[in-house]
Amino acid sequence: MFGAVATPNLTALARAQSAPVFEAALRQGIGHTGRALYSMPSYNFVRMTNADVAALYAYLRSAPVSDAAPQGERAPLFERIAGDFMVRLAIARGEDGAMPKWLDQVPPLTQQENTDPRIARGEYLAMTSCNECHGFDLRGNAPWPGSAPDLIVIGAYTPEQFTRLMREGAPSSGAELPMMGPVARGRFVHWSDDEVADLYAYLSDMSRRAIEQDTR
Ligand code: HEC
Repeated sequence: MFGAVATPNLTALARAQSAPVFEAALRQGIGHTGRALYSMPSYNFVRMTNADVAALYAYLRSAPVSDAAPQGERAPLFERIAGDFMVRLAIARGEDGAMPKWLDQVPPLTQQENTDPRIARGEYLAMTSCNECHGFDLRGNAPWPGSAPDLIVIGAYTPEQFTRLMREGAPSSGAELPMMGPVARGRFVHWSDDEVADLYAYLSDMSRRAIEQDTR
């Protein structure tokens, strides 16, 4: 958004920091110094379960420590200076809430007791993977401009079309999606078939419920 974003080396960080410090950064947007993390999108992880946070922490501590220079140090000098200036300017103008101010706007999960386990699992996946861009409640109303569409569009997808979107980044319209295309090919291509099916079960149910409510 502002220029080069300097993200830390997670394999080194997980070894250096305790589990509670790691959890505060991941789910609450609080850094190891106790200050807010300006660009860490913790709102996407606020509903992550304790078990999954623990699994991530264990995995990162077991993975080989990468010795690549942090991303911020690899960016061209001009971008670093410009990015630094833009952030300082924003903070000086009072725009210092950044990511942590959004955490309590993420709605609670509502389908975890659903009798259909696919819907419960799909809600968990969507609310920890898709609400990063598609709005905190997946309905396309994120507080920043140019956000991604309301996910009730899934109501118009067949399971095959949805699987293709998740595997190849290609929508049912056949159009090239400048953002969703690379995101699907870079991230969601790694999901299992069951995870894709669970997500479809949840999103098509969400779409059905939303339409029912609108036509009531
Ligand atoms: C990093 C941001 C980002 C994430 C994460 C993301 N999306 Fe998207 N998505 C977009 C954007 C932006 C668009 C609008 C098209 C574009 O610009 O690529 C979009 C479009 C879509 C569309 C509409 C495609 C069409 O038919 O036009 C669907 C469906 C969709 N996303 C589903 C998902 C699902 C399901 C997830 C979670 C598993 C997800 N997206 C996660 C950014 C994202």
